[in-house]
Amino acid sequence: MIIKICASILSLDWSDKTIIDQAVMRVSNADYIHFDVMDGKFVKDKTFDAAFVKSIQTAPILKDVHLMTKQPEKLAMKFIDAGASMISFHAEATKSPAKLIEKIKSKGVMAGIAISPSTPIKKIEKLAAKLDYILVMTVKPGKPGQKLIKTAVKKVQSLRKKYPGLNIEVDGGINAQTAREVIEAGANFLVAGSYIFKSQDPKIAVDILRNA
Ligand code: DX5
Ligand code: ZN
Repeated sequence: MIIKICASILSLDWSDKTIIDQAVMRVSNADYIHFDVMDGKFVKDKTFDAAFVKSIQTAPILKDVHLMTKQPEKLAMKFIDAGASMISFHAEATKSPAKLIEKIKSKGVMAGIAISPSTPIKKIEKLAAKLDYILVMTVKPGKPGQKLIKTAVKKVQSLRKKYPGLNIEVDGGINAQTAREVIEAGANFLVAGSYIFKSQDPKIAVDILRNA
């Protein structure tokens, strides 16, 4: 499978737009910029809104929006308007995930469901056929710079066995070492923030992950 690299800006000072604009330029070989949207309810922290995502020019890099919010159905359209090419929301965050998946896909945007380390695979079984991707959280949602949880890699393995054609995105604690492990397990979209932006040359870091 072709590996896509999604550079997460969560570990940077996103309150300063110029820092983010510069960061985007420093990862011009990434496939996506990954935006972690937090509402202070689904997770403790609060980050940015759709207006912020819209204000960041990433083209030709695409925008990957990860909604760590309650009631994602109220927000998804705003992020599509902000230029998202893929949107994921958490399995537990909405009562009608199937409806929201259809809504996102009807706009030509890839729809994904995110599962936290504590969420079992069976939670998404009924939805799998409708999904463009599954986002497997490899850390507890909320903070950058955490260590990858090994049992989440096992989850990727099981998902890949069950759904050979599905895109599997992994998010959290990805570095050169863990990238190799998750790719071997079957992931094909890799989100990484700290590893990329703490590197002296983020472009080389992106290449290392892609070829791990
Ligand atoms: C965690 C976020 C991740 C995070 C990844 O809640 O969903 O996207 O930014 O950051 P690193 O690469 O630092 O683990
Ligand atoms: Zn994320």
